[in-house]
Amino acid sequence: MARHNLVPILSFLLLTLVTLQGTDALHFFKTEPEAVTRINSIHYEVTNNATGTLGGTRFTDKIGITYSKSILQLASEFNCRVFRQSKKSESKNVESIKMYVETMDGVAYTSNDEIHVSANYTADYSGDVKREITGVLYHEVTHIWQWNGNGNAPGGLIEGIADYVRLKAKYAQSHWVKPGGGDRWDQGYDVTARFLDYCNSIRNGFVVDLNTKMKNGYSDNFFVELLGKNVDQLWRDYKTKYDN
Ligand SMILES: *[C@@H]1O[C@H](CO)[C@@H](O)[C@H](O)[C@H]1NC(C)=O
Ligand SMILES: *[C@@H]1O[C@H](CO)[C@@H](O)[C@H](O)[C@H]1NC(C)=O
Ligand SMILES: [Zn+2]
Repeated sequence: MARHNLVPILSFLLLTLVTLQGTDALHFFKTEPEAVTRINSIHYEVTNNATGTLGGTRFTDKIGITYSKSILQLASEFNCRVFRQSKKSESKNVESIKMYVETMDGVAYTSNDEIHVSANYTADYSGDVKREITGVLYHEVTHIWQWNGNGNAPGGLIEGIADYVRLKAKYAQSHWVKPGGGDRWDQGYDVTARFLDYCNSIRNGFVVDLNTKMKNGYSDNFFVELLGKNVDQLWRDYKTKYDN
């Protein structure tokens, strides 16, 4: 009797193991209770300043204020996990995150813990606009939480880290470059995000440590310190790996 039951149990365990292996390990790095409390206590506010425009109306119909607030919070928790900032002392001091939907060109930008999302972009986006704006919010929320080397880090790296978080949250866009794409490591956005993903595959935790080092300043030498090779060599290795 007991022996007969063992087979399904064993295959269940095996299946679970295989599933866990195949899933992004990131999702199993639990957010510490202290960080959850901290992120829950942040004041989240979303204002649609484009009501009456096509984009403002589309925002209300397809995305909405309640959903956006929940993404600001989820993306903050996700950042905390990606950067492993469980203690308050390790992370930025953020009291509120505000988001405005407004008439403007471009896609979105963030300053002073305020995210501005373009109503025009929301109006014009063809495809799943809710998913797209969710991805945009993961990127922008990362700008709130990431370190920028006291303003000395290359802009392309800052944008690359923001898209790296978006990638890990599984909101990359289909038109992004494939792994190995791009001309320079600090080209920014998808190109740098893919490169950082490669660097992190050499040593899991690389992006965490890079962000931590960027708390007080920036040097390209961080790549040598963390991976034993300079960033140009790493970029060449990366291009060779994907043969382009
Ligand atoms: C949004 O609209 C409110 C009034 O509804 C205004 O007080 C606020 O300044 C506007 N914010 C931005 C960023 O445009
Ligand atoms: C954005 O949309 C508004 C109204 O929907 C329009 O008046 C304005 O010209 C647009 N701006 C840009 C930069 O496209
Ligand atoms: Zn950005």
